[in-house]
Amino acid sequence: MITKKKVLLTGGAGYIGAHTAVEFVQQGYDVVLIDDFSKSDDTLLAGIEKIIGSKPVFFKGDCKDRQFLDKLFSEHKFDSVIHFAAYKSVNESVGNPLMYYENNLGSMVALLDTMKKHVVNEIIFSSSCTVYGQPDSIPVDETAPFKRAESPYGATKQMNERILEDEVIANKNLKAISLRYFNPVGAHPSALIGEMPIGVPGNLVPFVTQTAAGLRQKLTVFGSDYNTTDGSCVRDYIHVVDVAQAHVAALEKINDMPGRNEIFNLGTGEGVSVLELVKKFMEVTGVKLNYELGPRRPGDIEKVYADPSKAKRLLGWQTKLKLEDALRDAWRWQQKLG
Ligand code: UD1
Repeated sequence: MITKKKVLLTGGAGYIGAHTAVEFVQQGYDVVLIDDFSKSDDTLLAGIEKIIGSKPVFFKGDCKDRQFLDKLFSEHKFDSVIHFAAYKSVNESVGNPLMYYENNLGSMVALLDTMKKHVVNEIIFSSSCTVYGQPDSIPVDETAPFKRAESPYGATKQMNERILEDEVIANKNLKAISLRYFNPVGAHPSALIGEMPIGVPGNLVPFVTQTAAGLRQKLTVFGSDYNTTDGSCVRDYIHVVDVAQAHVAALEKINDMPGRNEIFNLGTGEGVSVLELVKKFMEVTGVKLNYELGPRRPGDIEKVYADPSKAKRLLGWQTKLKLEDALRDAWRWQQKLG
């Protein structure tokens, strides 16, 4: 039997980290999770345990804490790191930029430093399509230039990609892959793990499911006068399990990459408007959603969706699940949450 790599997942108790942990364990990898619980708790760890049939190996700690990292890396011989741990609220980042710069950049720097010290040479980073801003042409591919980030959150994604770009030049052993997620939605089909927004959800799908569950009165569609088929914004919604599987594909191919720092879009390649998503949610679940058309949300981009062909070509990965699956799974998870 081939021994699979030992992989550290930072932010492993969060939405995408938890789904990715399940996929790695199911593929036979030895997985260690860390999280500081600043934006999560142990709910998803319990869900992971139910899915995989054993307790995930977990340590509570802050990814900026070098002593914590040093001890962890001394006790575990990791082959690779998947770095999810970061703050991700656009609004919060506008109100508290220093908190975002300190956390999102500080954790990357501390992690890379610790990896260098302990000779761990493979990292996959959770980036975002937010790095593109409103691209000049869509579908957008990885060669599109960065536009000025709309928020400090977006700036941290751009800067972390730059940190990796610079570090692979300085550290000749390091290999890096940044995965630019479009809009991850949905939940595990088991309905044992899913998204757990804190307070009023900023993102569309959790707001939709909470409205359907009666926790919110109505959904406001932000903007109906955009230059799109029905006037609402267009995004590329990708099932979180597809996103999770892309990390496994990326790690399996990291040593076959043409460059030591490669970037991939993770999307379906299909643009869906807010109103189309709302309609699809009602079709799939049979629940009537209370919604109204409202003003535009400041900072929103009119239309963006991925050209995911590089990931297909070099990682052998493409999405398998549909928006219908994601909405059905998100709704089942919401019903479990209550
Ligand atoms: C947002 C962030 C993006 C981040 C991503 C993480 C902004 C401007 N962008 O992307 O940087 O990487 O989350 O998940 O916040 N909508 C409504 N009503 C709602 C909520 C959303 O109509 O109550 C619309 C939005 O206007 C948008 C679409 O739904 O057109 C998707 O919104 P959202 O889920 O917040 O994702 P993004 O804005 O694409």
